[in-house]
Amino acid sequence: AFLTASPAKRAAAERAVELLRPRLLEAERVGVGTGSTVAAVVEALLRDPELSRALRGARVYASSLSTLLLLRSHGVEAYTQVPGRGLDLYFDGADEAAPVGGECMLVKGRGAAMLREKIMAYNSRYTVIVVDESKLSSRLGELGKPVPVEVLEPALQPVIEELRARGVRAEPRLGCGCRDGPALTDNCGVVVDTWPWGVIEPMEYSSLLDRIPGVMGHGLFIGYADALVVGRGDGGSEVY
Ligand code: A5P
Repeated sequence: AFLTASPAKRAAAERAVELLRPRLLEAERVGVGTGSTVAAVVEALLRDPELSRALRGARVYASSLSTLLLLRSHGVEAYTQVPGRGLDLYFDGADEAAPVGGECMLVKGRGAAMLREKIMAYNSRYTVIVVDESKLSSRLGELGKPVPVEVLEPALQPVIEELRARGVRAEPRLGCGCRDGPALTDNCGVVVDTWPWGVIEPMEYSSLLDRIPGVMGHGLFIGYADALVVGRGDGGSEVY
């Protein structure tokens, strides 16, 4: 994943490794997010002998089945139940990141892992989000990415109708691996992609979703990132 990643993603992964280094060397419990950027970070970490030892010596927690399998393919055993004392460190990717006024707002969940990812980020003392420059925006929604909403199956129609009645475009995501039909998460929730942009402000939309029965989780992350790493195509990078 690291060698085949775009130059911007490689730059992001390399900078993330440097940012994570001091904390990873001390960490006992490390959470790992989901997606191709995370896969590049994991490979970059494992190429470094000191960090590879640190990761293998820690308890590692995966935010999805695909991450669990990725870690296993590298010989790293991982757990999915977040420990009571929480994580020392968590790193993940995002679909859109808007660092505005000292706060970083994110859209996540293209990989449908947003609920487990949010549980990990919430329960981590330090959360690093790693993206390439194509994900960076100055105002959340600028990139037009959907906010995925994870819905418990019996609530599917009421949730979609409520969102549509408020003017939000809401479409069940289709295509789940090798079969047609609705996309399901690792929690058997149904994924509904939504576009609240220009209709409801992100903060308000996030609290609305948190209040609707049957909504298990969603991909708006406001106030979860302690640091944002952005990699550029010219090999440079920034940390916000
Ligand atoms: C997974 O559910 C998402 O939140 C990912 O973090 C996001 O889709 C980033 O994936 P890539 O790094 O593959 O773009």
